[in-house]
Amino acid sequence: MKKQIADLEFEPLIESAAIDNRIQAIGKQLNTDYQHTIPVFVGVLNGSFLFIADIIKQIDIPCEITFTKLASYYGGTKSSLKIRDDIDFSVDIKGRDVVVIEDIVDTGNTAHYLLEKLKLKQPATIALCSLLLKPAALLKPIEELKYIGFEIENEFVVGYGLDYKEMGRNLKDIYKRVK
Ligand code: IMP
Repeated sequence: MKKQIADLEFEPLIESAAIDNRIQAIGKQLNTDYQHTIPVFVGVLNGSFLFIADIIKQIDIPCEITFTKLASYYGGTKSSLKIRDDIDFSVDIKGRDVVVIEDIVDTGNTAHYLLEKLKLKQPATIALCSLLLKPAALLKPIEELKYIGFEIENEFVVGYGLDYKEMGRNLKDIYKRVK
């Protein structure tokens, strides 16, 4: 079923059951990969708030969770090169195994920015887990991108935390722009 959000029209792309299945699989992988340590999950708000909550429920090893807030979109449909960094990251991650949880990697600018910022704090390891990846939009490879929910076309999507003009975050499924 099509959805109108502000001035744009969207149609379903990934249903919530498929999102749940994929999250269970990624959760299992994280439990295995980090079984010998206590990872620090860094959730990147706002877009990943549902993904963070759902993935963290799959984690059954001891872990810590913290948040940061970045934005590069300013409510439109094109990624801007300028990144707004709203929360100063204060958790001590020196020597820790860090897993960054992102909603979507588009150009990769936001991920590169955050990863470089976190690396200055000398974590033992750092990995990126993103629900969505638009391979055709990625400007340069991200070595740390180890966990990917779904690869999608270079199209604008909303739902499951992702917004258009701050709307659509509440939708259970992910929708792509048609008009
Ligand atoms: P990047 O810096 O270009 O990789 O963009 C990353 C950020 O832009 C994400 O964390 C999202 O907040 C936003 N973004 C990128 N693509 C989309 C999209 O298709 N829909 C909604 N937000 C998006």
